[in-house]
Amino acid sequence: MTTPTVTKGKSAAAQTKDASAPVVAAGSEAAVKPINRREFLYYIWGASMAVFLAQTAGAIIWFALPRFREGEFGGVFSIDPATVPAVGATPVANPTGKYWLSNTPNGVLALSMVCTHLGCLFKWVDATGRFECPCHGSKFEEDGTFIEGPAPRSLDRFAVRVVTPTGAIESDASGSAVKIDGATRIEVNTGRKIKGAGAGEA
Ligand code: FES
Repeated sequence: MTTPTVTKGKSAAAQTKDASAPVVAAGSEAAVKPINRREFLYYIWGASMAVFLAQTAGAIIWFALPRFREGEFGGVFSIDPATVPAVGATPVANPTGKYWLSNTPNGVLALSMVCTHLGCLFKWVDATGRFECPCHGSKFEEDGTFIEGPAPRSLDRFAVRVVTPTGAIESDASGSAVKIDGATRIEVNTGRKIKGAGAGEA
C-alpha cells in the first residue's frame, strides 16, 4: 500500500486540483510560440525555392512538348507517297500546310506558298511550267529557284523527311530535294522553314 505524498505548503485539496488540471507538455509550449525572424526567413526561402522549381519544371515540359499537332500549320504533315505527283508533273498545293509539294528530277520539295517579295500567294502556271506571282510578277522554277521579278530570293522551303524500310533521309540545311524511291511515308515539317537562296545565287 502506497502512502500519498504531501507537498509542503499545499493542502490536499489543492494538490488534487493540480493533479486534475490539464498537463501541458514542454514541446507544446514551443509549438505555439511565435516564429522568430530566422524561421520566418527560412520559410520564405523554402517557398521561393518551391515556386522556382515549379516554374522550371513547367518551362521544361513546355519546351519538350511539340507546340503544334500533326496536320496543322507549324507541325508535321505526313504524306502518303502514292499521292505525290510524278516527276515533272504539276505541283500539288496543300493550303493547310501552306506549301506546294513539287517532285523534281532531284527529289521532292515542299515550297512555301508565300512569295519572297511582299508575301502574296503565287500560283503554278501549267502553260509556262513555273510559279508566277500575280502581285508584281516574280517567277520561280518548279524547285523554287528565282527566275525574274522583284523577289529578293528563291522560294523558301520546308524541311522534308522521307521514311523508307531501311531508314529515313532528310533534306539538308539548305532544304535540298529528297528522293522518294521506296518511301513508306513522307513528312513535311512546316515548323522548320529554310530561306531560299538569294536571287541570282545557285
Ligand atoms: S509579292 Fe510576289 S512579286 Fe511581289
